[in-house]
Formats: sequence, structure tokens, C-alpha cells
Amino acid sequence: MDSGNRGGAPGSLVFVLFFFVHALISAALHQNPSARPRPTLPSSGGGGINSNSVLVALLDSHYTELAELVEKALLLQTLEDAVGRHNLTVFAPRNDALDRGIDPEFKRFLLEPRNLPSLQTLILFHVLPARVGSLSWPRSSSPLPLPTLSGEPLHLSLSPGSAMRVGGAAVLHPDAIVRPDGVIHGIERLLVPRSVQEGFNRRRSLAVISAVLPTGAPEVDPRTHRLKKPPPSVPPGSPPILPIYDALAPGPALAPAPAPGPGSGKHWFDGESQVKDFIQTLLLYGGYNELADILVNLTSLATEMGRLVSEGYVLTVLAPNDEAMARLTTDQLSEPGAPEQIVYYHLIPEYQTEESMYNAVRRFGKVRYDTLRLPHKVVAREADGSVKFGQGEGSAYLFDPDIYTDGRISVQGIDAVLFPPEEPVPAAAAVAPAARKPPTANAKLRRGKLMEATCQMLGAIGQRSRLASCQ
Ligand SMILES: *[C@@H]1O[C@H](CO)[C@@H](O)[C@H](O)[C@H]1NC(C)=O
Ligand SMILES: *[C@@H]1O[C@H](CO)[C@@H](O)[C@H](O)[C@H]1NC(C)=O
Repeated sequence: MDSGNRGGAPGSLVFVLFFFVHALISAALHQNPSARPRPTLPSSGGGGINSNSVLVALLDSHYTELAELVEKALLLQTLEDAVGRHNLTVFAPRNDALDRGIDPEFKRFLLEPRNLPSLQTLILFHVLPARVGSLSWPRSSSPLPLPTLSGEPLHLSLSPGSAMRVGGAAVLHPDAIVRPDGVIHGIERLLVPRSVQEGFNRRRSLAVISAVLPTGAPEVDPRTHRLKKPPPSVPPGSPPILPIYDALAPGPALAPAPAPGPGSGKHWFDGESQVKDFIQTLLLYGGYNELADILVNLTSLATEMGRLVSEGYVLTVLAPNDEAMARLTTDQLSEPGAPEQIVYYHLIPEYQTEESMYNAVRRFGKVRYDTLRLPHKVVAREADGSVKFGQGEGSAYLFDPDIYTDGRISVQGIDAVLFPPEEPVPAAAAVAPAARKPPTANAKLRRGKLMEATCQMLGAIGQRSRLASCQ
């Protein structure tokens, strides 16, 4: 039986199958590189770029992480111009070095829109405006400084064992890619210019300080109940002025605050206290009591946010002010889960400041941010020199920028409540601003004790008129 199977027709069928599968595999192999989306060069007005260029080779190479960074740094045009003028030498860190080999904090710093200049400096630091192939590599063992496109010099040297080195990195693949207008060397790791490292260090130490006490957080003078301006500097590590969980009795919907671990207060999560700080800041800032109330009393969102931040997530809160919240109808708030859904649509899982958002909308016109209310995104665009969120009637201006920014949580005050585009715009919101008066019953329904306390406090110091909802 066995011998019958081996000979004749079945054998040639196996051969044909093998051939067919082989052809399929090799076709797939050839297809693969082009199937991956790659950055493409902007076809500049001046004749475009030679397909044999070192720049095209870089974007098409296996240095995909670097290619991606070049694109994120918006440097394609700059490099295209440079390669038109002179040969280029590119030092390309291996993917692994860019992917897992760098401090995640540093990577986040580089990718923040407002740090674009740092990212550009970093990338241009890897490019020499001249061809330095392995044959023309400096022969001396004392490092030879050569100017890079970033302006800061790189030091090229040859170690005693005649291994090529650039800055602090070994050249792993000399002449990895050679083209008529330049050469690419594969290197061991990322080269960080001094100016970028210093910028990052400055930012990091600022973030550490402001995580303890938010910069710009207004403080209340306990004697007069007036805001102190500007806030005096408080030594890092001092306890919050008004610890929210200590000062307020938790409502029924509030998950219990995590108890300190046995014997020490060190088991408090970082995120927990950062959320406390930001809610406290909102309360002291004034005009955002309704949102604070929802976060703390109506829902357990504050706890949830604290947990997220403890786990290393960053959040930007688009905080509707009290006037905006007062325009919500009872219907919109009374549905089960409605407050959560509304707030989730105002939470962006990114760290954005006024500056970074404004720069983004200036550069790209329209920017879509993810929200925690999946899958809905919130659209931002430039309007009247500010940032405007949402569309049409339901749109909101960035009203009180950077109420709180500590490097992980950013709070930006806006002047309307946002709804995903699919949902009908609240009827009240479509009315002209002057006609927008909250139904009294509704306002009473949502006004917490804190609100009343605030009104009393304001009344005591003759500022009753400041808060419309106090009347
Ligand atoms: C780049 O280098 C090649 C070879 O050294 C040379 O022929 C060419 O003119 C150079 N291109 C520019 C733009 O300088
Ligand atoms: C939450 O409710 C309590 C009790 O009603 C109140 O005292 C407190 O001010 C409220 N918290 C906030 C942040 O509004």
C-alpha cells in the first residue's frame, strides 16, 4: 500500500502543491515590505527627490523607528532640502534602541507636541551635512568634532581596536546603506545632544515639584477666605491645604478612599493625591463646583481617575464651568449613568496643555482627541486665537487654560458641556446665551452642600454676585 502511494500521480501532485506553496510564500515575502505603511517624502515643488536618494533609502530601510521619528518631527522637507545641497551621513540607531532602549519618560517628553523643537534637534543631531563613509572615517583615536545639522557637534573616533565610534555609541553597521548622495551607519544607541538632555531634566524636575503642589494653584487665606495672589511658594511635600477626602463626607456613590497601609501613610497612591490636588484646585479656583461635585459625590470617578493616574496613565480634563453645567437639563442628568457618560467624554487620555493643544490646532487645523467615552472622539480646532472643542451649537471654547497642570493631570476650563456629535444637542444649549437660565428646581436638585457653603462664604465677603447660581 505504501509503495503505491509513493509512485505515479500522487507524487507529482505533492510536487505541484509544493511548487505552488513556494510561489505563494515568495510572493508574500516580496509583497511584505510595501504592505507596511511607510512615511513618504513630501514632493517638494523643486523637482522632487531622486528615488536613489539616501533619504528614500532611510525611509525604506529596516531602521523603521528612526524613519517614524523623522516623520513625527516633521523633518522630511528639511532633510530633503539638505540632501539637495550636500551629501548626508546619517547615524541610525537600531530599532531596539529606540523602541525599548530609552527611558519611557524621555520618549513621552520627545513626543509631546510642545517639545517638537527638542525632537527636531535630536533627529538633526544624527545627521552630518557631509559624506563620511568608513573609508574616510577619521583615523585618530582622539575624537574629531564634526558639525551636525542640529548645530551641536558630534565626535567621531576610532578606538584602538579600530572600531568606529560616534559620540558615546559604537557603530555597529558601518556603511549599512550607501547611496550617491549619502551614507547611513547603523549605531548602537540614540545620541542625545546636551541641549535636549538639559531641557528634559529641567522639565522633569519641574514636574516632580509641581506634582506635589500644582503651580498656579490658588490658595485661600484661612483668615479672610480670600484667594491669595500670587500663591506663596510652599516647600515640596507639604500636605494639601484642604484634603478633600478628610474635609468631605463620602456620598453613597463614592467608593471608600484607600486606607493607608499598616503603620505608615506611604501606601497612599500618587494618583489619588494628584486627583485630590486637582479637585481642590478646581474648588479654590471657583466656578467649577458642579464638576467637582459630580466627580466626588455623584460618582466614584475621582477614585477611578486616581487609580488610572497611579497606574501611570495621564489625563486631560476638559472641565465645563458651572454656567455650562447649569444649562444641562434634568433629563440629561437623570438617566442612570448620565453624569459618568458626560464626564467620560470630557476626559482625554493624553497630557495636553493649552500650549500643546493650541500649537496642534495651529499646525494641523483640526485635531481629534480620544476620550474615555469610547469610541467617541472630541474635535478641536483653532478659533479666535483660542482652541474650540466640538462642533456647531454644542461647541466650547477653552475658557480657563491650565487651571491645573502637574505633568500627569491637566485641567482646562471650557464654557459648554460637550456631547458626541451623534447625540442631539441639548435644546437649552441651542438657545442664545442671554436666554439660558437654569430651571430653578433643577439647580436645587444638583446643588450640593459645598455649593451652598461656597455661596455663604462668598456672601460673607461681599462677592455674592460673582456666582449667578448663588442667587
Ligand atoms: C555627493 O558625493 C558624491 C560622491 O562623493 C559626489 O559625486 C556628489 O557630487 C556629492 N553630491 C553633492 C550634492 O555634493
Ligand atoms: C459632596 O457632598 C457633601 C455632602 O453633601 C458636601 O459636603 C460636599 O461639599 C460635596 N463635595 C463636593 C466636591 O462638592
